[in-house]
Amino acid sequence: MSRSRPIVAIDGPAGAGKSTIARRVADALGFVLVDTGALYRTVALAASRRGIPLSDGESVGDVARGMVSRDELRLDRDPANGVRVLLGPADAREDVSEAIRTPEMSLGASTVSAHPGVRAALLDIQRRAGAEGGVVLEGRDIGTVVFPDAEVKLFLTASAETRARRRYDELVAKGQEVSYEETLDQVRARDRQDEGRAIAPLRRAEDAHLVDSSSMSLDDVLERMLAIVRAWAR
Ligand code: DC
Repeated sequence: MSRSRPIVAIDGPAGAGKSTIARRVADALGFVLVDTGALYRTVALAASRRGIPLSDGESVGDVARGMVSRDELRLDRDPANGVRVLLGPADAREDVSEAIRTPEMSLGASTVSAHPGVRAALLDIQRRAGAEGGVVLEGRDIGTVVFPDAEVKLFLTASAETRARRRYDELVAKGQEVSYEETLDQVRARDRQDEGRAIAPLRRAEDAHLVDSSSMSLDDVLERMLAIVRAWAR
């Protein structure tokens, strides 16, 4: 199928500035933004609320499948914040956008994302959201697994120290009590889990453009990425 507007896949490790950049790329192009990490975070939240150990792949996979088949997991557009995540049945949807943004849910999402049943359950939602193009999908395996045929693939990375510093500043600004060392440990632990898992590990697609944001400003990263997208459109 040929698309008149591209799918833009933005993959990369935690804390490279992906969410901010993906939102700005989507806004600049007038595209829809799909934050796929939010789906894994919400599965982790739903499973932990039910007291299910996140390492129990079978049970967490059941939770994910159940949520998807009952239409209890939704990504909504939010004019102020980009994307809102809603959990629960149609008559009682709960906005969990904040609840999924804790350090516990970051690590929890990474844990549940290693389970094949969870990844399979979330694949269709992501493909449906992107199929028509005119969309920016942000994640870990968009260019390799979800849309290997995406028109534009970007891999955004930065050193672990740079990413930890940014994450730390963000958490402190939100009033959370964390230390830089603890944050760096969490970044490294997540990298290990995301890169080391057997299924859909974090890696750059061969045809993805690599952008290292360690010593670039957000504006420079944005400009670079938009130039790549526009080069495709020409
Ligand atoms: O982007 P994020 O920090 O919200 O992602 C949370 C976790 O979800 C991350 O550690 C790995 C996982 N994830 C994934 O495996 N595949 C994706 N496409 C997006 C996220």
